[in-house]
Amino acid sequence: MALRTPLIIGNWKMHKTVAEAVAYVTAFLPQVAQVTDVEIGIAPVFTALSSVATAAKGSTLRVLAQDVATEGPTGAFTGEVAAEMLREVGCYGVIVGHSERRRYYGETDAIVAAKVRRTLDAQLLPVACVGETLDEREAGTALTVVERQLRAIAGPLTPDEAPRIVLAYEPVWAIGTGRAATPEVAQAMHRHLRATWEECFDAPAAAALRILYGGSVTTDNIAAFTSLPDVDGALVGGASLAPDGFAQLVQRSQVASA
Ligand code: 13P
Repeated sequence: MALRTPLIIGNWKMHKTVAEAVAYVTAFLPQVAQVTDVEIGIAPVFTALSSVATAAKGSTLRVLAQDVATEGPTGAFTGEVAAEMLREVGCYGVIVGHSERRRYYGETDAIVAAKVRRTLDAQLLPVACVGETLDEREAGTALTVVERQLRAIAGPLTPDEAPRIVLAYEPVWAIGTGRAATPEVAQAMHRHLRATWEECFDAPAAAALRILYGGSVTTDNIAAFTSLPDVDGALVGGASLAPDGFAQLVQRSQVASA
């Protein structure tokens, strides 16, 4: 039995109306009905979460939100959505600290840590994202930057919370560019993240941690990532937007990890 069940999540970003999202799920589910050894998730926009969760009921498809408030369960925070509210509509987890949130909305390491806290407190799974920019990689600081982001996430957790989180390594320069990291770059970073997790917790916690790769993942390159020893799945943007393509991507990930 695999120590870490592979996890593939489609991050739809700001795409799909409620009707489009439900039609996607209807088309997608039969195509992955035979997939049993990969956990599959999709992350629609807030407005589609409830309908998508209803459409996915009875299946193993996980529904995740793309963001969550730092505060909760209620309060005077105009425009925010609390983790408990996400759970109420059927969410299983939350993508936290995506680089687009960090870049365009000023999310700091401290904000990301607060969102991980709120997500855990609402009994949801945080998928916490880390990743360096192109400038940082070219300056030779990729490992340092990503390790700093990771320690900000791990620092406030208790040892019993460590198994309740998934990490995603998404180099900013690989997102939406068609320039995926090479398997060597991904493996080196994932190994470093796992080693850092061991320093923060212990060896069993590091061995159990699932670390997803994200950034220009496609049906053509998914197997090259999921066959790496420290890559436990993927966070997929553009290639998750069509149900047929995403179903094929999930199937190819499974072949590689079998
Ligand atoms: P792309 O797969 O479109 O590069 O996006 C990756 C991503 O940001 C997933 O969260």
